[in-house]
Amino acid sequence: MTARIIDGKVIAAELRARVADEVARVKREHNLVPGLAVVLVGSDPASEVYVRSKHTQTQVAGMASFEHKLPADVSQADLLALVAKLNRDPAVHGILVQLPLPKGLNTEAVVNAIDPAKDVDGLHPNNAGRLAGGFEALSPCTPLGCIILTKSVHASLEGMNAIVIGRSNLVGRPLVQLLLNENATVTIAHSRSRDLPGLVKRADLVYAAVGKSEMVRGDWLKPGATVIDVGINRIPKDDGKTRLVGDVAYQEGLAVAGAITPVPGGVGQMTVACLLVNTLRAACAIAGLPKPAV
Ligand code: GUN
Repeated sequence: MTARIIDGKVIAAELRARVADEVARVKREHNLVPGLAVVLVGSDPASEVYVRSKHTQTQVAGMASFEHKLPADVSQADLLALVAKLNRDPAVHGILVQLPLPKGLNTEAVVNAIDPAKDVDGLHPNNAGRLAGGFEALSPCTPLGCIILTKSVHASLEGMNAIVIGRSNLVGRPLVQLLLNENATVTIAHSRSRDLPGLVKRADLVYAAVGKSEMVRGDWLKPGATVIDVGINRIPKDDGKTRLVGDVAYQEGLAVAGAITPVPGGVGQMTVACLLVNTLRAACAIAGLPKPAV
């Protein structure tokens, strides 16, 4: 038996289409155009690819997109001044500062400066704390995408054993909170965990978010488990180019899992789609409108 492949491309396209419908509706009914501002500091090639994709998809969904590119040697004060300006701008409902920031800039101070109502990354302590408390919050996009992909396989996650490998602010920690909200039983594993294969073996739902190529092996998995691979690792090929691999040994996983996300074409597709969702939600909340249908 081979696993069902969870097609992030298709699921993300459906989600973007639903966002576009709701954007058209709020425009028609309330004259509201949700706007997303993305700030890119420096010229990390991977970040430039992400930012371009955010820009295009935001516009395709009918929203306004504002791109701000700053040089890698921008001062902390100038970056904070831009964030303050975006906080005040009524056309901007979502602010995303692309991470990682170049060395010398204080990421924590920048994130803390973003208006929590516009924090579509869900990284501000106000949103992170609200999420951890089980309150309504803007949640980080990649974990939101992971939950949507899981629910394409399982209508309810209640009582399932989930393991989240990785504890980053951007993925692991918020994913744990979202899984708890879905009534899953969650194990949080990380680089210091003992007997990781044994922990993974018990899990119905496996989330790999460590950034280590093919670390999770097929024989670690419980047969039939659902595997969500958040890793995007570039490894060199013989011809000098690179190829993308996940944190899970995909071919091995296919043979054991019940369902698995590919890399690329899995979680990566969902992150930008969820960013559009968060921008729409933020715009409606700021405008005092009811929650949108996505
Ligand atoms: N870099 C990689 N993923 C992300 C993300 O989701 N948000 C931000 N701000 N930076 C990232």
